[in-house]
Amino acid sequence: MKKLTIHSHAKINWFLFVGPLRQDGYHELETLFQELEIHDTITIAPREDETIVLNGFPDNIPPETNLVTKAWKMALEQGHGYGLKGLEVSIEKVLPQGGGLGGGSSNAAAVLNGISRLFPQYPLDILENIAAQIGSDVAFFLNGGLAFATGRGEILTPITYSLPPVPLVLIFPEEKMSTGYAYNQLDAIPHRPSRSFSSEEFLTALEKSGPNLKLMLKNDFELVAEQYEWFNQARNLLITHGCTHSLLCGSGSTVAGIARSNSEAQEIARRIGGNAVSTTTKGSINTRR
Ligand code: C5P
Repeated sequence: MKKLTIHSHAKINWFLFVGPLRQDGYHELETLFQELEIHDTITIAPREDETIVLNGFPDNIPPETNLVTKAWKMALEQGHGYGLKGLEVSIEKVLPQGGGLGGGSSNAAAVLNGISRLFPQYPLDILENIAAQIGSDVAFFLNGGLAFATGRGEILTPITYSLPPVPLVLIFPEEKMSTGYAYNQLDAIPHRPSRSFSSEEFLTALEKSGPNLKLMLKNDFELVAEQYEWFNQARNLLITHGCTHSLLCGSGSTVAGIARSNSEAQEIARRIGGNAVSTTTKGSINTRR
């Protein structure tokens, strides 16, 4: 039986502005997503019965709440007649849970992309619809690359901008911040500034690492994270070890630092130790499907 191996990458939100709470319980967002090289590795194989078998996922992600199960179940329900039955999904997990790197969403998107490749007759528009329903970041991971997002994060404008890979150091604090909790905390903070620059202006500043970059690396969730020691500690570690800038990833708790080169990023991660790794951003060209 055919078997696929897919890299399920992380993402960074280069800027993340959170607007007001909507009637449906979600917030309006404005964010610039970019895929990172760091990834989980997922192997997907079809099964003859209508069950899903998951191997290698951390014990604290119960199969029934795993977004991978949700993606498969919805694809099975909504795509009768395209050959999909059960799946065996095995993972080598690298991306932390509750890390703000989109790991769970990326895994779900990898499974949807896997279904599309194993069952080429399965309509893409159904898979895209499912992605938008499962979680706010899943739609981005279907194509990855570099994209500006609005809505709850699912309305995407892909961006073509030739940017060399950006060397990064990631610190994974032991403390986790659940997405729902982080949004609740943010609602209690009034007067969040609105965005005053475009994605292109941001990317130009990123490429030049100019003095205005610091002002544009804006993630509203830092207003929440700043109240916690783990965030201030990680940020200080990154800067004192030589990163030029730091940024909270998504709603936390991973903190990223920008390094001057790959070798410097590797050296900084090595010196910080245990919970730090180096990676880079991935190119913006989409080769996923
Ligand atoms: O979509 P996802 O499952 O990642 O969202 C988790 C929680 O984060 C939601 O239940 C909601 O409380 C909050 N959220 C939000 N606005 C968004 C995205 C997520 O309030 N745009």
